[in-house]
Amino acid sequence: MQAKITTSAIEAAKYLIEGQNVAIPTETVYGLAGNAYNEQAVLNIFAIKNRPKFDPLIVHTHSIEQIERFVKSLPAVSKSLLESFSPGPLTVVLHKRDHISDLVTSGLPNVAVRIPNHPLTLELLRQLDFPVAAPSANPFTYVSPTSAEHVNQQLGRKIPCILNGGPCQVGIESTIIREADDKVWVLRLGGLDIDELQAKSNKPVELAKTVEEASPGNFSKHYATKTPLYMGLELSQIPVEQAENVAYLRFSDYKPEVEKSKQIILAPDGQITTAAKNLFSILRELDQSSFSAIIGEWIPETGLGPAINDRLRRASINC
Ligand code: TXA
Ligand code: MG
Repeated sequence: MQAKITTSAIEAAKYLIEGQNVAIPTETVYGLAGNAYNEQAVLNIFAIKNRPKFDPLIVHTHSIEQIERFVKSLPAVSKSLLESFSPGPLTVVLHKRDHISDLVTSGLPNVAVRIPNHPLTLELLRQLDFPVAAPSANPFTYVSPTSAEHVNQQLGRKIPCILNGGPCQVGIESTIIREADDKVWVLRLGGLDIDELQAKSNKPVELAKTVEEASPGNFSKHYATKTPLYMGLELSQIPVEQAENVAYLRFSDYKPEVEKSKQIILAPDGQITTAAKNLFSILRELDQSSFSAIIGEWIPETGLGPAINDRLRRASINC
């Protein structure tokens, strides 16, 4: 089987209605979708990605009214944040109703929900009488896909259909939050800047630090390239056998003492949002070249900078 790549939301919907899995575009990364009410479709997601079942899935739908159908309650601040930022790169963890299977939530009483901001996927979701569970459409632990081509390269033989919505505009996964103990806890940094969240939140926004507080899927090593990535080091600090053909991953400018052909710039315009948008496709590109190692530069810690650095830290072998 080779996936059919389509730009028709109607065609993609047919596969989902039949209980099959479809890769869908979102503003953050591509997702691997299946009917969230169909246990077999959900099981297939774990199998296709080779993902452990203790790592729960985000449920996607097109409106807050739909979310209210599968959660027990929508606390006030969660609701107002969803109203402010949906559709958009925000995922909110809420108390699930019984018809959301434990398979989706890995046995947790809570379900993570989001309304993705992509016109084709919103059109698709509006045609379904069920929400879709969708993790990022990459094999477990590899870099997330930000184009239909990325999905096709890795999962094209395992799924019947990819809905092609072009390159993802945000480029890193959604920010995940949970309202608890009079705070809004950030379980995963992502495509929504936490200063923006704080500006619209009536409760203090805090980064969850302990494993218990954070998402079960926040593995310390994730998003890894096959070529070793070293963050923040000099050439002399990496093992000699890997130092002969190094690529440099730079934020916005070239290192003057290194050949330009060995350097790749994440954000030629100096914008952190551009770095986020390009991050995963550049990591893939570097991984497919014949470099012996990658030396990465940290991104400035403003806006989406901490979320990008979080991905780089987890992709690296030295941090
Ligand atoms: O932007 C995104 O969020 C993308 C697109 C496709 O929507 N999805 C995505 O899914 O990044 P995934 O499965 O790669 O990452 C979802 C994260 C995992 O770390 C998981 O542990 C966490 O969400 N998560 C899911 N359900 C949860 C829950 N009930 N409580 C806490 N964390 C949860
Ligand atoms: Mg993922």
